[in-house]
Amino acid sequence: MLKVTIGLFCFFIFITSSSAGEPITPLPQTLTDIDWKKAKVGKTLFFDPMLSSDRSVSCASCHDLTDAGGADNRIVSLGVAEMQGNIQSPTVLNSRYNFKQFWNGRVDTLLEQASGPIHNPVEMGLDAPKVEKRLNSNQYYKRLFYDLSHQERITFEMVLDAIVEFEKALVTPNSRFDQYLRGEIALSDLEKNGYQHFKRLGCITCHNGINIGGNSFQKMGLINPYTHDETYPDLYATTKKSRHKNVFKVPTLRNIALTAPYFHDGSAETLKKAIKTMSHHNLGYVHSDAEIDSISAFLQALTGETPTIMKE
Ligand code: HEC
Ligand code: HEC
Repeated sequence: MLKVTIGLFCFFIFITSSSAGEPITPLPQTLTDIDWKKAKVGKTLFFDPMLSSDRSVSCASCHDLTDAGGADNRIVSLGVAEMQGNIQSPTVLNSRYNFKQFWNGRVDTLLEQASGPIHNPVEMGLDAPKVEKRLNSNQYYKRLFYDLSHQERITFEMVLDAIVEFEKALVTPNSRFDQYLRGEIALSDLEKNGYQHFKRLGCITCHNGINIGGNSFQKMGLINPYTHDETYPDLYATTKKSRHKNVFKVPTLRNIALTAPYFHDGSAETLKKAIKTMSHHNLGYVHSDAEIDSISAFLQALTGETPTIMKE
């Protein structure tokens, strides 16, 4: 605990004394590293329930890219045969900027992540040979992949590779806050106050960088302990070190206004409740209603534009 606190403190000094400007950087407005043709094949796969055992669930069932900010609005997701998962669905938007994937960061890359839900018996419940068999007997996919790679046979690796290319394109630029950071617009007084509180109170020590999170592991309940429930896969689930109980990858706060309910256990139904819970458990602080309102306004300014690939 002491180590984490000192670490946070040093980091805080570092960012507040940095003359390089703000501790949050805007998302790129254009992406130059995407193979768009491959990403479009990935998009088709992402929305296709054919990748699940009973053909009822697609990636998009739990990562709704139109209304729910790349997550879903359930406390825990529903997979094949309406089986419940064991943790809240995080957003896939801007996930390329996370240093690791999953709440407990158990894999490093989107590629390693993507086979997880397909194989997970309560999510999609298929395996690589079955996915290959289904897609290779489908003329539409045969043609799509042939056009893409001139290969006669679709392999599971090609499927994952295309899905990942699509995920890399799921970037949401030009939020009001990013426009403000680029000096293009002014924030409202309420939003500006919210950003000042966010920095001054120390939210920024954990939620910073290009994804406003997604770049460190931190404890839920750093100051005031949070109930530990072993059914949720936290860092402890992979390391079995007791100091890792309730330690999670800090989630991104981009598009956070769209992804209620909040936290790994979906326990906060509203953004204001999530802000209050965070302050109490991770900062040991009680906000006034005015502070909560302003932080909430700031967080709402983090909603970006729909990714280009979703408009095509
Ligand atoms: C049944 C619901 C469900 C389905 C279907 C599903 N996911 Fe997920 N996804 C989740 C949940 C829940 C998590 C968090 C699991 C954890 O952290 O242990 C997650 C995590 C992720 C993450 C990590 C995000 C982060 O910030 O750590 C990515 C990326 C992702 N899913 C992409 C996909 C892709 C691609 C597919 C389709 C191949 C897919 N998901 C299918 C529910 C689902
Ligand atoms: C010590 C690090 C730390 C600090 C300080 C911190 N957070 Fe968090 N934040 C986290 C972690 C870790 C989670 C994930 C917790 C969980 O789900 O159990 C999180 C989750 C959240 C969520 C929910 C995200 C989601 O997708 O469900 C919001 C909103 C949030 N924080 C806002 C804030 C605000 C506002 C502040 C300042 C008042 C703050 N945080 C301070 C580490 C921190």
